[in-house]
Amino acid sequence: MERKWWHDKVFYQIYPKSFYDSNGDGIGDLRGIIRKLDYLKGLGVDVLWLSPIYQSPLADQGYDISDYYAIDPRFGTMEDMDELIAEAKKRGMYLLMDLVVNHCSDEHPWFEAAKKDPDGPYGKFFYLADQKDGRPCNWRSCFGGSVWDPLPGTDKQYLHIFHKKQPDLNWENPQVRQEIYKNINWWLDKGLGGFRIDAIINIKKPLPFRDYEPDRSDGLCSIAEMLKHAEGIGVFLEEMKRETFAKYDAFTVGEVFNMKEDEMRDFIGPDGHFSSMFDFNETIFGESPNGWYDMQKITAEDYKNCCFEAQERAEGIGFLSNIIENHDEPRGVSRYLPEGEHSVQAKKMLGGLNFFLKGLPFIYQGQEIGMENTVVSSMDEVDDISTLDQYQVALDAGLSPEEALRAVSAYSRDNARTPVQWDDGPQAGFTAGTPWLKVNPNYREINVAAQEPDEDSVLNFYKKMIALRKHPDYKDTFVYGSLIPFRREQKNLMAYYRKDAQNTLLVIGNYQNAPQDLILDREPRSVLLNNCKTLSLSKETLHLEPYQFLVLAM
Ligand code: GLC
Ligand code: CA
Repeated sequence: MERKWWHDKVFYQIYPKSFYDSNGDGIGDLRGIIRKLDYLKGLGVDVLWLSPIYQSPLADQGYDISDYYAIDPRFGTMEDMDELIAEAKKRGMYLLMDLVVNHCSDEHPWFEAAKKDPDGPYGKFFYLADQKDGRPCNWRSCFGGSVWDPLPGTDKQYLHIFHKKQPDLNWENPQVRQEIYKNINWWLDKGLGGFRIDAIINIKKPLPFRDYEPDRSDGLCSIAEMLKHAEGIGVFLEEMKRETFAKYDAFTVGEVFNMKEDEMRDFIGPDGHFSSMFDFNETIFGESPNGWYDMQKITAEDYKNCCFEAQERAEGIGFLSNIIENHDEPRGVSRYLPEGEHSVQAKKMLGGLNFFLKGLPFIYQGQEIGMENTVVSSMDEVDDISTLDQYQVALDAGLSPEEALRAVSAYSRDNARTPVQWDDGPQAGFTAGTPWLKVNPNYREINVAAQEPDEDSVLNFYKKMIALRKHPDYKDTFVYGSLIPFRREQKNLMAYYRKDAQNTLLVIGNYQNAPQDLILDREPRSVLLNNCKTLSLSKETLHLEPYQFLVLAM
């Protein structure tokens, strides 16, 4: 396999609004990130993905861009951005921006122009239809309601797969594609390492628009349904790659949901559209067409199976990007560990099991200190548009307001968006002002400052994991070695070999709050990582402590 510069890197996602506020306005910013670069370097991460910081009305927190060439003043200036790129480079780190091109903002000049003259050239930048003909299709927007809304001041309507402030760009129009490529190259010329590519599967619509089988009483159907019928996205993606990323050897990771079974090679094979794509197999587990209130809780066995299935699918094809959480998901420790069992030990186990999988490890801000879901005591505290919609969906299904709140708060995107907990001072040291979103009340116990000097903290465990992955004796095995599940049938145990000609490494997690024995198939040579103080081994039988995590060299 041809080696690429990004294969052996450790990635870290920053959600700028909640990362660190340098000027006391309650909103995290670019200068805040610059100030924390040494922290990130010390953690050992190499590549930083920034969620959007472009000019935006922030209807969907920056995933609604009104100027692709400008930094939103709330996040800083273009000079700050240039400085951030330069400062990262100085430390041997790379930056990825978020590429949001399925849609723009309804405040983008293109959309303004389309409203003024829907029959003119900018009308063709979007999907417009005459209102008098009724809705062209019954698709449900990802944030609720129809994907069609009236184009203000005209007799037309426009399509938005996400919020109504996020009109979809018409990728069938070559002019739109050229504008997008121009922008990508403009950013790559600034010295970016590449992009995380937002919601990209949605750019190809099955045309002409038509209804599909409704899946709820609202008569609408999920976007997933239309994606089953969409063919030919590869033509767009190949053109984009050729015109932009390929010329720069840029890294790209796609946010790809609902890919068709046999498309993995097209997406991330040696000549794939992207360098990598996220594994969402765990993320989507238990989803219900009814909405969040009907989600099925995931067990240790499910988690293991989801990870291994994803590994099998990508085997011999390419690199998945592995995540425990991101800005769209609840905190992983609250989701993937049984309720009430968020001990430091368990957090380290979950972190370790995911981190050493084959693929590119991504850490989301705060994960490295074991940040947990927040407590939402009333809907007034909710910012996230998706949570607002899902709350309504739950009420419509007959849940009481209390039940609906409980159900949606477990999956609210705000869980991951509360400010990073830097210390136990006011507002967790995130801001000198009032934070835009309430700090998680547990910041006095869980924060960076407390964990830094504590040898046994989650933070120091993450540092050790990263250091081990980069250790010259093992790096190749972790990056390129194969993954072979071990004792897959053993309940509440997740274990796998990482193996190549040099090493046979065994990664083990006792995924339960009780001890358990594991019979090895040979005696280990050494212990490379252990989240417990002891290792109890009699011949080839390991006596694992509750939530014990180990990496053994065999
Ligand atoms: C992606 C983003 C999410 C956003 C959506 C629409 O899923 O990760 O935050 O709301 O796309 O842009
Ligand atoms: Ca600020």
